[in-house]
Amino acid sequence: MDAAAARPITVGEVLRAVRDKQPLTPAQMRFFVRGVVEHTRKDIAPADRAIDVSQLAAWLMAVRIQGLTPDNTVLLTKTMAEEGDQLDLSGVNGEKIDKHSTGGVGDFVSPTLAALVSTFTTPEGRPIVIPMMSGRGLGHTGGTLDALEAIPGFCVSLTQSQIVTQLNRTGLAIFGQTGAIAPADKILYALRNITETIDSIPLIAASIMSKKLVEGADSFVMNVTTGSGAFMKELNDAVVLARTMVDIAKAEGRKVSSVVSSMDQPLSPMIGNALAVKQVLRVLSGETRGFERYLTVVMELSAHMLVHGGLYTQGQMGLAHNDLIRCLASRAPQNKFRQMIEAQGGDPTVVDDPSKLPTVDERNIVPVFAEQDGFAQAIDATQVGRAAMFLGANKEKPEDVIDLAVGLVVNKFVGDAVRKGEPLGWLHMNPDRDKAKNGLAAETFLRAYTIGAVAPAPPGLILASIW
Ligand code: URA
Repeated sequence: MDAAAARPITVGEVLRAVRDKQPLTPAQMRFFVRGVVEHTRKDIAPADRAIDVSQLAAWLMAVRIQGLTPDNTVLLTKTMAEEGDQLDLSGVNGEKIDKHSTGGVGDFVSPTLAALVSTFTTPEGRPIVIPMMSGRGLGHTGGTLDALEAIPGFCVSLTQSQIVTQLNRTGLAIFGQTGAIAPADKILYALRNITETIDSIPLIAASIMSKKLVEGADSFVMNVTTGSGAFMKELNDAVVLARTMVDIAKAEGRKVSSVVSSMDQPLSPMIGNALAVKQVLRVLSGETRGFERYLTVVMELSAHMLVHGGLYTQGQMGLAHNDLIRCLASRAPQNKFRQMIEAQGGDPTVVDDPSKLPTVDERNIVPVFAEQDGFAQAIDATQVGRAAMFLGANKEKPEDVIDLAVGLVVNKFVGDAVRKGEPLGWLHMNPDRDKAKNGLAAETFLRAYTIGAVAPAPPGLILASIW
């Protein structure tokens, strides 16, 4: 008989343990995580085990202040992953490798990366397969699923059997959450948002990794962004988060690495939904000019994935990069992207004719002019993302409706010389939208820039790799 069965666990003891910096036992952690899920399901929660929302909030604050031991961080993640539906990809033939990013602005990396890496096979001849469960945007960050829905007909709601079939046929699939994946996370995340506990590294790591573990990939590359447009504003915090997520995945027997990259300015020029897809199509057709920073991140993450797939060692990242550059030029990834669109019900002819994507009329593409000469010294990426949101490209509130055609194109990046009257970028507007919102977008985009007389030092992009 286990301890939990012999002596009922109480909410009080779980709270006391975290308050007093004592580790929770597996039984206490299971009791707590199950309680989190059952709390919202009063229909099934036995009265003596239900946990009150005030107790959840107290637990979160205790973790925020006291932290969790590394072992308890792993245990929390694993328990959150186990207490919910699982995605069973055991029927998929190949090495399953996933990527996750903590997000930012202009970082619609997943489709390009998935199309690229899924063209490779392992040294044993097994296909590399990319199952990507992605999310939607809110506020200043865009969502992968929202952008893909700009492709006419493209469906992001796939069943488990559709995902398995598609992965076996095409090697890549990008889809929304299936079933109740790590349901405790949804509840804890909402509470963290209103209890000033969102920035706890063990809670962030457990939140992200619990959902990743459920997906059943063999390995992961985790991209942690840092800077003005990122969740982690400070590099040190980003590195600690990256290390924590790597440690969790390793403890669970997965191959994993993290790349910390800068989000101190938008990663790429075309920001919006159809605009972000058009950028992917241009990159997959071999265009690189203007997309160098975006491609640097795509290539670095892809090279990590090839190492996890056994094609290269960590010491051979340069060779991996060369191989990826050759692969992109071959157009094989463009074909993969076409296959994915077709498999998910979308119109594959957009690949050769991007004008079939939602587009604003030329007359509604409006430049935002620089007000002085100098150099772009800094660009607040969050404000650029907010400008796109005011145009209607992202939701301000969950009930808002996204306009797939609108967005913005950035013309000047950090370090670029700027002349007064030159466009810093162009807004793609919907003229029928609230005029005040469109005006606010233009103002917000302009104010995102710091223009000064001195050219800044070239900004870094790939800031750390953790294996
Ligand atoms: N993304 C998540 O899924 N959870 C967090 O806590 C932060 C970012």
